[in-house]
Amino acid sequence: MSDKNKGMRRGLTDYGDADFSLYLRKAFIKAMGFSEDALSRPVVGIANTFSSYNACHATVPQIVEAIKRGVMLAGGLPMDFPTISLHESFAYPTSMYLRNLMSMDTEEMMLALPMDACVLIGGCDKTVPAQLMAAASADIPTIMVVTGPMLSGSHRGERICACTDCRRFWAMYRAGQIDGQEIEAVTDRLVSSAGTCGVMGTASTMACMTEAMGMMLPGGATIPAVHADRLRHAELAGTRAMALAEEGLTPSKIMNEKSLANALRVLLAIGGSTNGLLHLAAIAGRLGIEVDMEAFDAMGAETPVLIDLKPTGSAYMDDLHAAGGMATILRELAPHLHLDCVTVSGRTLGEEIDALPPPFEQSVVRPLSDPIHRGGGIVFLKGNLSGDGAIIKQSACSPELLVHEGRAVVFDSLDDLAARIDDPDLDVTASDVLVLRNAGPKGAPGMPEAGYIPIPKKLAREGVKDMVRISDCRMSGTAFGTIVLHASPEAAVGGPLSLIRDGDRITLDVPSRSLSLDVSDEELTRRKDAWTPPDESHVRRGHKKLFFDHVTQADEGCDFDFLTNRPYVGRTPG
Ligand code: FES
Repeated sequence: MSDKNKGMRRGLTDYGDADFSLYLRKAFIKAMGFSEDALSRPVVGIANTFSSYNACHATVPQIVEAIKRGVMLAGGLPMDFPTISLHESFAYPTSMYLRNLMSMDTEEMMLALPMDACVLIGGCDKTVPAQLMAAASADIPTIMVVTGPMLSGSHRGERICACTDCRRFWAMYRAGQIDGQEIEAVTDRLVSSAGTCGVMGTASTMACMTEAMGMMLPGGATIPAVHADRLRHAELAGTRAMALAEEGLTPSKIMNEKSLANALRVLLAIGGSTNGLLHLAAIAGRLGIEVDMEAFDAMGAETPVLIDLKPTGSAYMDDLHAAGGMATILRELAPHLHLDCVTVSGRTLGEEIDALPPPFEQSVVRPLSDPIHRGGGIVFLKGNLSGDGAIIKQSACSPELLVHEGRAVVFDSLDDLAARIDDPDLDVTASDVLVLRNAGPKGAPGMPEAGYIPIPKKLAREGVKDMVRISDCRMSGTAFGTIVLHASPEAAVGGPLSLIRDGDRITLDVPSRSLSLDVSDEELTRRKDAWTPPDESHVRRGHKKLFFDHVTQADEGCDFDFLTNRPYVGRTPG
């Protein structure tokens, strides 16, 4: 790259006179006190995702300062800029509805502002996927930093942390086991520090996958948000971003079929969130790569779950970090990884693993020879009810429900669910299969994390803790249960869930990878012919219109079709 296209000379505003554009740019930026020397340096942009609405990103200001320090130590000029920031509990109707918008915002700012490299600060569930999607599309040298997990806290002597315990306490409240005063007290204890959820939910899953795919410096996935190491890691990322700019090591040289396969392998081994698969499909789509669900399922069969972490195990993210974090996981998985993949450090994954400190005794990450769960966390289901991509997290299932046949109890929408699930007259038993439809990408809209359909109150009070549940929406990575997700195409576009009627028999057989509706093909054809699409006359303008017109289904990552890079030129895992 010639000096003409570096630093403050990059991406000049178009006035038809480049020298005038640079002169004007400098005049304005000098109003903030920058010297000629500062403005002549390479520029590292820093995506500042602080928001008063986002507790998972509360430490971003300190992280920005640490990255700036690292950039300046390497002789560069750090420039932070704001982007959309998404928090799970502060995004109506759901954060997933806004993920693609955040990715567009981030990509366009990376391209519009002068920067030779970029450090993206993500954390809460949708932010890291949005930023990786943006990095894949913008393709300027980029390094990811996450805010890191919160610390676990305690309630009446019991260790707790968002958000698996959020759901457990809420279930106890619904079952009448704790009262209103205690559930109120619990809200003071669940989130005991800044940072992302302290279990292997979507945020932690995406952080681990990002490190595995080489877009984050080693060790960055698990450092707790409030540890000093988090800031040292950020400083190093700033310094390394300067080298990335010099080397021209862009995301497309790091993210490819092999490195994405490494991320999928880690997703399975950590028993990670089902959302990790959906987000990876979206990131891959930006690179022209398709996720091969059958190959992913085969990978799952040979990848045991190694970590004993909530929501399926017992430990928290601060325990995983104390157990060595991703170093311990990658060392164990090395025989199954593509070790020749280059990472943002400039070294290959294999070289990074070779450079790891020696292992030590710990109880959170199991060896391959003695896993928590054999045969993979996430399973791809087939059958007349699974469509193109229904999945289930088998490590989160009740063993006695892995093979189950039951009567369908159908809820037509989230509103219908809310109106009837606790009705004492609801015709439901513990052996029934709860079905929620019209809650997918377009149906809800935004494919909310409503797949964790609550156990009907009257059954919860009898002690029922799990039932087979099926939906076309997603589930929080912090939730657990025998729950089929991502049925696609969704019901709102006439997918298989739109054809179920109350009382139909449904069979789930996880070991055989099958999900079927015991209704004849002729009858299903009759129902399909009678199906009418939902009224979308309320969708007239703005982002909502863009979303409804262009969102893809779950198996393609729910990205906007025009943002993906098609036709696909590769498949992962290979
Ligand atoms: Fe932000 Fe859980 S709410 S990571």
